[in-house]
Amino acid sequence: MRRQALSVALQVSGLFLQTTEATETKSRSGHGLIGYGISMYPPPCAFACKDAVSAPLNCTADTAMDMSGHGGMSMKLKSRHHGEHDELEFPSGDGWKVVKTAPAACKAINDFWLQTVAHCVRTRCPDSSISQLEKFWETEALGHLVEQPVPKMSYSQALASIAVEPSRAMNKSVLLDYVGAVSDKDWTPIYNADVNFEEHEAGHSMFGLIVLLATAVLPIAMSLLRFLPWPTALVSRFHAYLIDPPLFGPHHSTPVFFGLGIMPTRGQALFIVYIWAVNIACSAAGYHPIWPHSWYASTYVEVTTYVSNRVGILSFANLPVTILFSGRNNPLLWVTDWSHSTFLLVHRWVAFICMAQAVIHSIAYLYLYLEPDRDHTAESQKPYWYWGIIGTLGLSLMVPLSLQPIRARMYEAFLASHIVLAILALIGCFLHIFYRYEWQWGYENWVYTAAGVWIFDRLVRLARTARNGARRAFVTPIDNEYLRVDIPGVVATGHAYLHFPGVSRWKFWENHPFSVAGVSLGMDVESGSTAPKTMSDDAADEEKKTHQVAEAPAPQSSRGSSSSVAPPASSARLRPIGSTFFIRKSEGITDLLSRSASGSKGVSVLVESSYGPGATVLQEDPVMPTPEFPNVLCIAGGVGIAAILPILDTATTGLGRGSGSIKLYWGVRTMPLVHAVEDMLRLGDLGDQGVTDRCWGAVPVKLSVGERLDLKAVIESEVASNTGGTTVVVCGPAGMADEVRCIVSAVSRHGPVTRLVVHSFMW
Ligand SMILES: Cc1cc2nc3c(=O)[nH]c(=O)nc-3n(C[C@H](O)[C@H](O)[C@H](O)COP(=O)(O)OP(=O)(O)OC[C@H]3O[C@@H](n4cnc5c(N)ncnc54)[C@H](O)[C@@H]3O)c2cc1C
Ligand SMILES: *[C@@H]1O[C@H](CO)[C@@H](O)[C@H](O)[C@H]1NC(C)=O
Ligand SMILES: *[C@@H]1O[C@H](CO)[C@@H](O)[C@H](O)[C@H]1NC(C)=O
Repeated sequence: MRRQALSVALQVSGLFLQTTEATETKSRSGHGLIGYGISMYPPPCAFACKDAVSAPLNCTADTAMDMSGHGGMSMKLKSRHHGEHDELEFPSGDGWKVVKTAPAACKAINDFWLQTVAHCVRTRCPDSSISQLEKFWETEALGHLVEQPVPKMSYSQALASIAVEPSRAMNKSVLLDYVGAVSDKDWTPIYNADVNFEEHEAGHSMFGLIVLLATAVLPIAMSLLRFLPWPTALVSRFHAYLIDPPLFGPHHSTPVFFGLGIMPTRGQALFIVYIWAVNIACSAAGYHPIWPHSWYASTYVEVTTYVSNRVGILSFANLPVTILFSGRNNPLLWVTDWSHSTFLLVHRWVAFICMAQAVIHSIAYLYLYLEPDRDHTAESQKPYWYWGIIGTLGLSLMVPLSLQPIRARMYEAFLASHIVLAILALIGCFLHIFYRYEWQWGYENWVYTAAGVWIFDRLVRLARTARNGARRAFVTPIDNEYLRVDIPGVVATGHAYLHFPGVSRWKFWENHPFSVAGVSLGMDVESGSTAPKTMSDDAADEEKKTHQVAEAPAPQSSRGSSSSVAPPASSARLRPIGSTFFIRKSEGITDLLSRSASGSKGVSVLVESSYGPGATVLQEDPVMPTPEFPNVLCIAGGVGIAAILPILDTATTGLGRGSGSIKLYWGVRTMPLVHAVEDMLRLGDLGDQGVTDRCWGAVPVKLSVGERLDLKAVIESEVASNTGGTTVVVCGPAGMADEVRCIVSAVSRHGPVTRLVVHSFMW
């Protein structure tokens, strides 16, 4: 019994040892990318020797059959001619068999093969150290398959066992029953192939890294330029000519070409051109074919293969860039002064390039395998081939399914398909590499990086949501178009993504961006004009907690508009501190929200905050008055006022304020929204003021109710009457934003210095 148990244990541990050994032989010593931590053929002179010695061998019966069943693990094409009939030309006997293409197990114990290779290695690799060659001998000489056998003697032993210097040449069609000398004719083409292929692979890695870094680093470099002491007038003119206006025509926020696309601004266009240039240069540079070359039928095939591999790698390198630019938590947003909508726009262009590269890679390989000497049918049945197709198809489908009309009309369907296809494409790329090369060459690192960027964004989103916890939103209809939403207990700035899991069962995963209009301190419990009259127990607890917060030295919430535009009412009557949103009813979740207009209990809400400029530490606030730009002219359209209110607050408290003028022009359809905003600001009853000329604390406000503002006249006269530069901030419908963009650019080309800040509700 005991003995049996022991032997089982030994067998099991033996199995275990064997498998660890096997994986050790299989796994490459390096990590990283080819040329950066991974070398393919260390050293190529020795690799060429073991591949050159391909003469028929006299194998023992048990080693004569290739049992590994592994193909495609190596970069190399398998021997073009090999089939059963070849074997018939060679003799076999009792317990032995001569095989044309001997399996590794046969080579491992075949003296002549080992000695011939060892001799070749010694003569061809004069510069390699013995230890490197011994390592090659142990781990690479017989391939790097899972079942790779270890040669029965070491490299030095094999060399020592050669009795006389070989004089007879190794001949590929003659049984190797002697120690052969490998001729230049046999060795050089293989050596050329190994060296040149590896050099190109290292080039692919380098160009991939260049694409990745060039696209990610330029935004940082460009936005660091703003810290240099440029003359203000020069910067203003530069922006007016080269950055702010649309590339062509008057539209940027409003889609063009029959609603099919978005016209980039000139600044965005410059970056897009740069990205194209980098990608084209990196696809085209650094090819140097060599001849004779053992793997390819011609130099043409060789170069086509390199180009195909290059664009494949560049496509991989663009995956993380694409995902990075699309994210809400893109670290580039934190260190540059570029907007989220700029990154989203560029995301679409990088994604297109990434897709195009994948398509070129696929078509080029399809073309190569349709050549008469390649077997397309066999290849196309291999998992790596069809996973590659799945990856390319996934990327290709995403492009038409993300066109502007689809995003605008079926945003949620677009988003769902986008995420599913992106995951499918990443899995496709991943398995394409896995089935082709397992983890030998580090290509998978590109896919890992892409997945890592995505996971980072999702984790930060989760953390931002979790930090605010589950909250209740109190919805107050303003009229049949607008809603006010108060979320006690959440202090946010910029914009926040709101999830309303209770509002629709089918849309529980939807979340939409809304601007934080202000901090709601002042929902008066007695008059209860905007707030529910009764508080749940839970909200009462909240009140106790937040009272302490409210009395503590003003936290970030002082950015909220209410605190400074108007002094808060007596704090004893305040509801808990929280955030207020103004929402315009649209067709989706906002419509459902208005119908579920909550009673006293509110609806449950998850708040993912805070986003937007100023919500991060590394950026200065773009609209803070400065000595050069002491004036702020705010222009709001409809519910766009939500993004403008905090700006008014910042501007009126800003240090540079002193001399400047701060004004608001607001085009709005009806008065109820105006009253709701003033109510939030706790300005008291302004009914006696004129309808069009009002005053919010220190800020003069001009309303245009039910009719369009004459933007050109307003901007030109305001900018001209100001002393010093003016920052023009606009938030409103796309058409309004575009008009302001073009007017401000035109004004600052010749007139007084201006800065333009556009807040967009449309991505
Ligand atoms: C930074 C930012 C701040 C915003 N602030 C406000 C605000 O304070 N008040 C306000 O009323 N609206 C604001 N919006 C617009 C608001 O997000 C949309 O009106 C809302 O998503 C419409 O939802 P829906 O399901 O009711 O609309 P639908 O009628 O279903 O969709 C209308 C359109 O809104 C766009 N949209 C929907 N969801 C998103 C999303 N998650 N990301 C980008 N675009 C989307 C799509 O283009 C869609 O076609 C803001 C948008 C952005 C980007
Ligand atoms: C092959 O090797 C066996 C012994 O291992 C030997 O008997 C046989 O003659 C050899 N065949 C040839 C063709 O050399
Ligand atoms: C190899 O052997 C074959 C047949 O014996 C002969 O015809 C051929 O010339 C040899 N090749 C070389 C390069 O010696």
